Formats: sequence, C-alpha cells, structure tokens
Amino acid sequence: MAQRNKTSDLAAIPVKALTGEQAVAELARLAEILNAASKAYYGDDRPVMSDAEYDALMRRNQLIERAHPKLKRADSPSDQVGAPPSPKFEKVSHARAMLSLGNAFEDDDVADFIASARRFLSLDDEDTLAMTAEPKIDGASLSVRYEAGVMTVAATRGDGAVGENVTANALTIADIPKSIRNAPAVLEVRGEVFMSHTDFEALNERLLSEADEAGRKGETFANPRNAAAGSLRQLDPAITAARPLRFFAYAWGEVSAPVADTQTDAIAQFRKWGFPVNPLTERFTALEPLLAHYRKIEEMRSGLGYDIDGVVYKLDRLDYQERYGVRSNSPRWAIAHKFPAEKATTVLEAIDIQVGRTGALTPVARLSPVTVGGVVVSNATLHNADEIERKDIRVGDTVVIQRAGDVIPQILEVVKAKRKKGARKFRFPDVCPECGSRAENEINPQTGKEDAVRRCTGGLVCPAQAVERLKHFVSRGAFDIDGLGAKQIESFFEQAIIREPADIFTLEARQRSGEIDLYTYKLNKDGERVLKDGAPQPTNTKSIDNLFAAINDRRKISLARFINALGARHIGETNARLFATAYGDFASFRSAALAAADPESAAYQEMLNLDGVGALVAQGVITFFGEPHNAAAVDRLLHEVTPETAAPVAADSALSGKTIVFTGKLEKMSRDEAKARAQALGAKVAGSVSAKTHILVAGPGAGSKLKKAEDLGVETMSEDDWLALIGD
Ligand code: IVH
Repeated sequence: MAQRNKTSDLAAIPVKALTGEQAVAELARLAEILNAASKAYYGDDRPVMSDAEYDALMRRNQLIERAHPKLKRADSPSDQVGAPPSPKFEKVSHARAMLSLGNAFEDDDVADFIASARRFLSLDDEDTLAMTAEPKIDGASLSVRYEAGVMTVAATRGDGAVGENVTANALTIADIPKSIRNAPAVLEVRGEVFMSHTDFEALNERLLSEADEAGRKGETFANPRNAAAGSLRQLDPAITAARPLRFFAYAWGEVSAPVADTQTDAIAQFRKWGFPVNPLTERFTALEPLLAHYRKIEEMRSGLGYDIDGVVYKLDRLDYQERYGVRSNSPRWAIAHKFPAEKATTVLEAIDIQVGRTGALTPVARLSPVTVGGVVVSNATLHNADEIERKDIRVGDTVVIQRAGDVIPQILEVVKAKRKKGARKFRFPDVCPECGSRAENEINPQTGKEDAVRRCTGGLVCPAQAVERLKHFVSRGAFDIDGLGAKQIESFFEQAIIREPADIFTLEARQRSGEIDLYTYKLNKDGERVLKDGAPQPTNTKSIDNLFAAINDRRKISLARFINALGARHIGETNARLFATAYGDFASFRSAALAAADPESAAYQEMLNLDGVGALVAQGVITFFGEPHNAAAVDRLLHEVTPETAAPVAADSALSGKTIVFTGKLEKMSRDEAKARAQALGAKVAGSVSAKTHILVAGPGAGSKLKKAEDLGVETMSEDDWLALIGD
C-alpha cells in the first residue's frame, strides 16, 4: 500500500522537480508500464492503454532521460521498437533496421525539427529545405523483399532488428505486387498493412456470426489496427487471405541500387512498380504550408475510410537524410506530427451500472451511436461516481466524447448550453443492481476518506461476484474440497447447478431426488439441460460419487477455514484464524460482528483490541454480516455444515467468564441478539439461575427467575442497565 502511494505520488512530480533518487524510481516505474504496454500492443495485438496515454508516458520518460542522461536504463522504453518477434513465426533479420519515428505534438515541435535540420545541414536562410508530408497510417508495418524482381520474404517489424516471417500471408494481399519489372537486384519495400473501416466492421460482424453458428463466444477486434496486425500475424495464410488487408508503400530497406534522389521520387517509383502510395503525400518548402497540409489532413481524417494518427514529415533530399542520420531507433530526418485524440458530440441516453467480479460498481455511459475515427461508439466509461459528480454528467446531456485509438472511449465534458431543463443529477445507486445488496464506499480508517469505488456488499449472493467467491470458497485455505476446483466451479456455476456455497452441500441430495442429473446431462447454449445428441452421456459416475464423498468430508470444518471461506473483504487466512481463536465459535463471532456495527459498542472495541485487527478488517466483517443477503446465505450454509469450535481465548472484558441469565421481555433487542452480544464479550449465557449465576438481566414480566436470583443474592439489572454495561 505504502509502495503504491509512493509510486503514484511520483507520477505527480514534474520532471524538473524530481530528485535523482526519485528519477531512478520514476524511470523504473515508466519502464515497467511502457514495456508492458508495448508488449500488449505489438506482441499480442491487444492494447492496454490509449495511444495518447502511451505517448504522454513516453514523453515523460524521455524528458527525465534528457534531464538525467546517466540514469537511462538498459531496458529504457525509448530504445524499444515494437516487441520481439513471436516464437510462433520464423525469424527474419532485417538487413536494415526498421525504425520507429519521433513524435511532434505541437506546431512548435515541428518548427524545432526543421530548424535543427537546417542547422545541422548548415543551410543559409536563402537555401530551401524541402519536406514531404504524408499521412501516418495506423496499421502494421511490413517489409517486403524482392530479389531479381520476385518477392522472396515479407517480414513484420518485430523489435526493429528481427521480425517475423509472414511471407505466405503477404502473398495473399492483393495490394502487394508478387513480382516487379525493372527493379534493382535486391529491393526491400516497406509500408503499412491496414484495414479500412468498412472492411473492419464487416470482419467483426462475420467473426461474431461464425462464432455464433459454432456455439462459441465470438472474439472481435477492438479497432482496425489490431485487426490488420492480427490478420497479418496468422499462422494459417488461408485466414489472412480471407481478411481484406491493404497496403501503402512509404519507405525502403536494403536496396542494391538507389531507388531515387528524393523521397518524392522514391514514392513515384514505388507507384510505377505497382505499389499503392498514399494520395495525400505532398512536398513543401516552408513551415506554414506544411502545417496547413497537416490541418487539411486532420479535417479529412474522419472521411478517409481508414485510420491515420498523424502526419509524417521527411526531409525530401535523400542525401540530406543520409547526412542527418539516425538515432538508436528513429531517423533524425523524419518526425511524426500526431493528431490530438478524436472527439465527437453525442447524447448520453443512460448510465448503467456494471458490477465487476470483485463487487466494484462501475458506471457505463450509454450513448446515441456516433462515429469517432471511423468506429461507431455507443458506450463510454465513466470510471466512478466521483467522475460523474466532477464533470456534472446527467442523463440526457449532450456530451463530448473522445476516442484515443483505444478500446473504450471517454466522456470529456458536458455541453452545458445544450442541457435540457429539469435534467437531474445522477444518483449513484446504493444498492447493487445485480443482487439488491447494499453498496458502500469503504472508508479508509487512516485518512477517514471514502474510497472512490462503491462496492456491493452481498459477496456471497451477488451473481456478478458469485463465481469468484465460490472459487475462493473451495480454495485450499478454505473448504479445499477434492475434485472441486476453480474449473469445476465455473462449469457448475454456468450450468446453474451451484450458485452459492450451500448448493455445494445439496448436490448429492439433488442428484438423488432427480432434480439434477450429474451423470448424464449437458447444457445447450441457452442453458437448457439436454442430453448430448439426444442420447444419455454417462459421465464417469465414480468420479461424481467421489466428489460427493469429498464434499461430505467437509461437513465438519474448522472455524478458521469456515470464516476464511466466507470471503468477507480484508479477511484472509490469517485474520480468519485470529477471529476463530478469539471468538471460539461461529455464533459468537457472528454476533460480535453484528454488535460491532455500532462503533461505540464494547464489541467493536474488543474487536479492535484483537492483535492484528485494524479498522479495515473490522469493517470487512461488520459489512459482511450486516448485509441480510449474506446472512441468509450463511444460514443456508449452516444447515449443511458445522464449523467446529475453536478453544476460545478469555476475552479481556468486564463480562468475560461471567454467567448471565436473561428473563422477562427484552424491549431493545431480541433474546437471541442479547445472548450473542453477551457471548461475544466472553460471557456464558445460561437458561436458569443458580448460585453460579453472576448477573440476571430482567425485563418486564420477569417472575420466578428474578425471585430466585434475589434469594441467592445474584446481581440483577434492567435491560437499560445491561445495555449501559455492554456500552450500547
Ligand atoms: S516512415 C524510417 N511513413 O509509423 C522511417 N512510417 O511510429 C520509417 N507509419 O514504424 C517510418 N505511416 O509503421 C513512415 N507514412 C509513413 C507511415 C509510417 C505509418 C508507421 C510505421 C512506423 C511507425 C512509427
């Protein structure tokens, strides 16, 4: 926890204010995050953060490295290009490295880029420096090698030095010539493989319907870039062939004879050889028209039909490129001027609440569908209640959304001018939409502040959490049932056979009564129980009988395992053991947890006095038992299972070891609760008065017991006195 605070604090420190020690830690943090993000993006075709976020972290990393050059790490993300080639493919060493590009975000960055080049080349004011400007295609780069005019190898970028051999796949891409006339003996043409928006949407639809037919859950691609990269990196070229991939040529690798003298001519040459080249490529000799072209492309962006994420500027003269040279992983002679994330305006139709597997309630914005960057967007994340509050987002509002090349778009702001009269503030639910249990923001006892995340407290019953809870329930430190692991739980849950812990223990009875048939049935995709192919499918009946035996073995279980199995927040094996020894039996523990809900109570103080129990842990059990849905599920479980009593440790309370009798009518709490509270404080509750009785609590209507107590000289008190004694 302390560690996490430390690192997130670091992230907030401006680069200039970082001490050397902090810079080391921050570079380590950034390396870890960026290198993992890069692997997810290039290696798995599954991005974990938006491009904009990645660029921002990368920039911070570079600024720190610039300020502290000696601290640059061996695994610095600035030196990584892409990700190492996947072992699934044969490797190809690039004869000339496939480089990445430096980024410019502001016009000033572009002006600096040009000024530096001019300085380096010692150009005078009157000397022109021509630049090309072309869209930066958001796809996957590919290097295609021709020998004597015939395609021999096609390779992905990989880590820039070594890529993946995808020749068989490249051969299926119609845009890429298989042979070229009048080419140098060796020629490597490089460019971008991409997928158009329409093809991307059609592909996703096809993937879904194919999966549906096969009864599988369909996996689709998050965006056209992933679709292109994923399709190019298929082991079966027939799959690539069925994917509509396109190609633009913009660079070259090894060549046995120069391609041209300028970038412009090289592109023209590619076109003559039969490669598609981007029609928006132009040549400029001054900054202003270059930037005007950037803005023109930016305006055209949403109508292009394919994703671009910026404009690439390159020195036009190849001799200048040669002189200006390259850095470790990017040319000095080129720069990518990135676009800001794409935005659109739409209407927020509803805010739905999703419950995650750990019980976190996450608001999701349902939007009127709108196209952003060629992708139709109808959902956006809202993170948590704070964000809705901070941005004052209301259902019916017109909102500005942003899609930064990533999977889930965000709501940037509300267009207040368009707010309808009577639009009401969103009320974040305080019950779980999945199970109706209370939902609460945990309070951090150290800071007294509420956690930003609201959680469902119905852990045992909430369908959104149930699978994880059940897996925990049967895990090694808990019930540890032979033959009932995470996999079986998932399958039983999916088949609606086990939905809560008690169901595990009624399996056998339900099998015998014929309610379920574990020996024969399967479920179809609608969850109906059917016999496979209409015929009985005898499963291994012996293994099912063994499972019943293993379950029955656990009908008696140690109190510590039982408490741990319930999965209350912050209660793991250690705390469960602690509670077991402190309270001795489950009833005492439970009633202590109920009584401790009142922070003024003795029960609460006692709980905190337990060595190792802090406010957060106490809150965990109090919340758990305070939720009636959990309590009911525990009661159902207690019908099936008996937690054994642990030897109680004498509690350090005024009541510990005392024998108490209740008589008459109690008005403030039920007899059961009164009894439980007394037990929680270490007292014994007896049914009849004897010489061993220490206290008689007498309510209205008390009769013979009160008389007997008075006769024996036993201390007697009213219900109110009793409540005062236990601190209620
Ligand atoms: S030139 C030596 N031009 O962007 C320079 N790259 O972030 C090589 N890209 O790896 C790159 N469109 O995959 C160049 N018009 C374009 C591009 C382009 C897209 C990609 C390419 C490169 C990456 C760098």
